[in-house]
Amino acid sequence: MTSLLALVIANHRMHVERANRIVELSTLNATMQRMNEALEEAQDQLVQSEKMASIGQIAAGVAHEINNPIGYVLSNLGTLDSYLASLFGLLEAYTESECPSSVSQQASLARVRALRESVNFEFLRGDIVALLAESRDGILRVKHIVQDLKDFSRGGVDDVWEVVNLHDAIDRTLNIVRNEVKYKARIETRYGNLPDVECIPSRLHQVFLNLIVNAGQAIDASGTITISTGASLSEIWIRFEDTGCGIPKEHLHRIFEPFFTTKPVGQGTGLGLSVSYSIVRRHGGSIEVESEVGRGSRFTIRLPVRQPCPQLAQTDAVSAAEPV
Ligand SMILES: Nc1ncnc2c1ncn2[C@@H]1O[C@H](COP(=O)(O)OP(=O)(O)OP(=O)(O)O)[C@@H](O)[C@H]1O
Ligand SMILES: [Mg+2]
Repeated sequence: MTSLLALVIANHRMHVERANRIVELSTLNATMQRMNEALEEAQDQLVQSEKMASIGQIAAGVAHEINNPIGYVLSNLGTLDSYLASLFGLLEAYTESECPSSVSQQASLARVRALRESVNFEFLRGDIVALLAESRDGILRVKHIVQDLKDFSRGGVDDVWEVVNLHDAIDRTLNIVRNEVKYKARIETRYGNLPDVECIPSRLHQVFLNLIVNAGQAIDASGTITISTGASLSEIWIRFEDTGCGIPKEHLHRIFEPFFTTKPVGQGTGLGLSVSYSIVRRHGGSIEVESEVGRGSRFTIRLPVRQPCPQLAQTDAVSAAEPV
């Protein structure tokens, strides 16, 4: 009887303990969920501030890129202004020559002829068309740069999954970054056949920008950056190759770590690759790096063409392979 009672008490104690543990576990679970959310938010902020830092870095280049077309459009407007003055002079002379009160029709016609010769009408006709076409191109170029910058700087809150042509996305990135690298590096594009890819375009812009800026920074005096693309089965690949300084073997496994940088203080935060890595991972893709000191580096991004479920698309995916 006593032992039965002891058993009942022990059983009851066990139930109470189990209930307590369940409460503890669910409290712990809620805390972990909150921490996870806070971490995700912090990660998002990091991606966003890295993007802003990149924009700061390329701002001078972008300003130069915009300044150039603005400069020649302004100069074209000045030339068009003087052409118009000549043409209006000619038009006035014609009008006078047709006027019945004109003293001598003969004399006015001679003046018109002389003016027409001095104005070089045929040349003006061709040059006006050319100046207008060049100016239109210049304004369009500025428009595209501003549009691409706007796409790039879109905040993290409106991360929208879209099915897009990644060649357009790379070209848009090149549009805003070309000036940053053009004095040192020739940029070559070798595009294959790519299906449209489901992605967050503004995020991939950020990745492309980081890889191109890194490639440019790795080139000392002059070199080449080659961007090639291709597709196989259900994935596509984009390769950024440079003929820069290369990455020492002992750094190869660290370059994706946040804050790992070999650049002087103030020049690199060491966030570019770690942020790029997390963006690519969010797309369910991978980044592979091959490099050889003194010869250059090659970063290959692989992305699935379609997302099984965008919000959950996360597979682990960085690998550092042997030198080129
Ligand atoms: N193409 C490359 N060639 C040589 N080294 C590279 C290349 N890309 C990255 N690295 C190395 O990896 C390091 C980390 O790159 P990451 O882009 O993360 O940071 P960062 O360029 O130093 O700074 P930032 O935050 O401004 O991008 C670089 O400091 C550099 O040593
Ligand atoms: Mg970088």
